[in-house]
Amino acid sequence: MIVVSGSASRSLGRELAKELSCDLVETETRIFPDGEFKVKVNVPEGEEIVVVQSCPPPQARNLLELFFILDACKKSKVTVIPYLAFSRQDKEFLKGEVVSSKVIAKLLESMGANKILTVDIHSRLVLEFFSSKPLNITAMASLGRHLKNKVTKPTVIAPDENAMKYAEPLRKETNGTSVFFEKRRDRNTGDVAFKFPKTDVNGKDVIICDDIVSSGSTMIPAIRFAKEGGAKKIYVCVTHALFLDGVIEKLRKEGADEILASDSVERKDVTMVSVAKDIAQETRKII
Ligand code: R5P
Repeated sequence: MIVVSGSASRSLGRELAKELSCDLVETETRIFPDGEFKVKVNVPEGEEIVVVQSCPPPQARNLLELFFILDACKKSKVTVIPYLAFSRQDKEFLKGEVVSSKVIAKLLESMGANKILTVDIHSRLVLEFFSSKPLNITAMASLGRHLKNKVTKPTVIAPDENAMKYAEPLRKETNGTSVFFEKRRDRNTGDVAFKFPKTDVNGKDVIICDDIVSSGSTMIPAIRFAKEGGAKKIYVCVTHALFLDGVIEKLRKEGADEILASDSVERKDVTMVSVAKDIAQETRKII
């Protein structure tokens, strides 16, 4: 077996190869002055291949690179795409909108990716767009294992009821309790309104989790809620740390003591927790 990592997943690729005790091939990319690029992949004949390439911003470029890699690795057995971009558009919310995730599913399957492993996909509806349903694992168990010796009976806060699935592994690993707040987004304006629970967080460790943090418009009010409630320490746990410019500073300024993110998105400015162990475990089952 061999792990082939694309440019968006170098660190995860290294960790995954270690976990699977196999060799690693890192693709080579050359970018031309006009922005086009080419990819070189040297894979030994006859090896079973695990391709790993996440698709955070620049999403289109990372996806295209993934397609190029899949073309080079026609015999790939498993395709690991931790952040499956465009999964937020899982339906036609407003008349005329293209269901982007359905298009991505068609493209991936046409490139031969039929055993896909993804991490905390934003919408499970997207899994149904594939004829061979991708395996979706959570990064929250890894994040919880990392946090369990740092916190005492924490309150885990999810941004909405649907996100309780992210809170649950954290709660379990850290022996805490969990609550959710209500979030409503106006589809036309993008404005978000919140309703917070009556939970007492005074003097408590608080973990706020979400699958994605991008502009911080969801995370910031939750940090404020915990801070104003007198939380002892506030931890932010996120699977896909998309963090637009300046967002990390904003989260810290609002009161986040530590920001932890999975290696779905490679970053040097927050605590990175690898999800390679859980990916390797599932890869062994499906390869
Ligand atoms: C939305 O439903 C997601 O789960 C996240 O809460 C959202 O994508 C976060 O984005 P932002 O940081 O821009 O609020």
